[in-house]
Amino acid sequence: MNFGIALLGTGRIGSNYIDIIEQTQKADIKVVAEPRSEFSTPILKKYPHIDIVSDYKETLIRDDIHVVVATLPHWLHKQAVIDAANAGKHIYLEKPMAISLTECDEMLAAAQLNGVKLMTAHTQRYIPVVKKMKECVESRQLGNLLMVCDIWHKPYQHKNRPKWMLDRDLGGGMGLMDGTHMIDRLLWIIGNDITTVSAQLGAFTHPELPCDDTSMAFFRWENGVVANICRIAWDTGITDYGADFFFTKGQARFRIAYGNEVGQKTGFWIGTEGEWKEEPITDRNSMLDEFSDFIASIINGDDDTPIPQLHGRRVIEIHEACEASALSGREVVLAN
Ligand SMILES: NC(=O)c1ccc[n+]([C@@H]2O[C@H](COP(=O)([O-])OP(=O)(O)OC[C@H]3O[C@@H](n4cnc5c(N)ncnc54)[C@H](O)[C@@H]3O)[C@@H](O)[C@H]2O)c1
Repeated sequence: MNFGIALLGTGRIGSNYIDIIEQTQKADIKVVAEPRSEFSTPILKKYPHIDIVSDYKETLIRDDIHVVVATLPHWLHKQAVIDAANAGKHIYLEKPMAISLTECDEMLAAAQLNGVKLMTAHTQRYIPVVKKMKECVESRQLGNLLMVCDIWHKPYQHKNRPKWMLDRDLGGGMGLMDGTHMIDRLLWIIGNDITTVSAQLGAFTHPELPCDDTSMAFFRWENGVVANICRIAWDTGITDYGADFFFTKGQARFRIAYGNEVGQKTGFWIGTEGEWKEEPITDRNSMLDEFSDFIASIINGDDDTPIPQLHGRRVIEIHEACEASALSGREVVLAN
């Protein structure tokens, strides 16, 4: 049997999922929910075999839908997930899981109660250079990992962003948007057991906007590894996206090309004896790999999803600790 898929929301990223779902084994996209005609009309023209409805709730009453892919504004994640779970649909949810830890708990409870899977689709572990870094750490080819600098410096372009992205109460701010990607990959590579968080975070580029655009955070792990996150959404500056890892016997770095600035390059480098050497990377369609793994895990009846269901919650817990530390000016100790 093929799984019937509904795509909820097709704004800046959602429509990319149509081709992904069409290329996924055992998955058929049946319906797209999108209230804005400027986004839904081109979809109708390009994919006449897919139904279009204006509200996601219209997809949940259909018996031919088994899985929903939700690419909705952050403030809608909680309600859409609870509605989908109550309708008996499995959920593949674009990151971040929700706008608060309390919301995450309600969503996980609804999924458990209804016997459906809820995976927050944190994409980083499917990106080949990030995967390569995890292999480098685990192989210990450069000895023991000591520390990490994880960076994302990018143009804010706040005037081009949907309004909800500029209001923390609606899930806006670059912390939930980008910081969660950085927390996700650090947790995946180094481990879940962060013990303390200390952060500055706020609206520094545009103080008039009610959401953060800039942060530096410092994390300690149980095993003594430390990392920082340095991110800024700028009006004028330089784009740089990736991380530098420091080991007892050398360094490794990856970069991910972002935006249209000159000099953007995706790659992975090892640094020893004063010289960087680039390592070959096989390009992959990371979104296709991730969605295919999710569908396969549902078909196989796996106990958990490929990205564990609790992972999205842990990312929000760490992000909230960053916000709390920035407010108090003190280090936050996490329970593990
Ligand atoms: N993984 C990544 O690299 C990545 C990149 C970009 C965005 N995202 C995530 O994808 C999600 C969507 O982000 P975006 O940038 O596409 O936002 P967006 O605002 O551009 O798109 C959201 C869409 O949902 C639609 N919508 C609103 N209410 C709806 C309803 N009731 N039913 C159906 N559709 C409804 C809106 O009209 C809009 O078109 C967010 O969670 C975001 O963080 C992930």
